[in-house]
Amino acid sequence: MSGAVLGVVASAAGGVERWFVDALARPLAEKGWRLAVTLTPSAARWLEPGTEALGALTGLPVRWTSRLPTEPRPHPVPDAFVFAPATANSLAKLALGIADNQALTVLCEALGRRAPMVVLPQLSDDQAAHPAFEGHLAVLRSAGVVFATDPASVVRELDRVAPLVALGENDGNGATG
Ligand SMILES: Cc1cc2nc3c(=O)[nH]c(=O)nc-3n(C[C@H](O)[C@H](O)[C@H](O)COP(=O)(O)O)c2cc1C
Repeated sequence: MSGAVLGVVASAAGGVERWFVDALARPLAEKGWRLAVTLTPSAARWLEPGTEALGALTGLPVRWTSRLPTEPRPHPVPDAFVFAPATANSLAKLALGIADNQALTVLCEALGRRAPMVVLPQLSDDQAAHPAFEGHLAVLRSAGVVFATDPASVVRELDRVAPLVALGENDGNGATG
């Protein structure tokens, strides 16, 4: 393992409970990333009871709630982020800076500091036709977000925008999460 930390956020898009671990989390961990996984509250319900096994992949707990102010941060600050799958709801919140759960809190902060970020949107045609959707994509693109089309392309795009060899050891400092 390189010591480089990857924040991985999943929201509640159909099928995430079937592919998230084997098609995304495990290949990323096998590449050498230390995964800091945070789920939206809905995704946490869907992925339960697999969350413990997911944390065991890299030794960090899977998060879906905020810490108490008196508690230490459960995750180091990630070097890069993957947001997959991104629902219409959570993608809109990220574009607008709405951090009303732990997953959006870490994503919004990461976008603020322009951390490398690969996003895999998963939306129905009706959701994609919402009049605000193209604007949300444009905001995210302008902040350097790279979009992927499936879990395999998430891994490829991440290799391109955040090559592991270019990242040093993570000191875990910074941010509020
Ligand atoms: C079975 C099922 C499948 C869904 N699939 C999607 C989807 O693919 N994309 C999407 O944007 N929303 C989908 N939704 C709706 C989201 O789960 C819903 O908008 C939820 O509030 C998203 O919460 P989150 O973004 O905090 O995870 C689905 C809902 C259900 C019940």
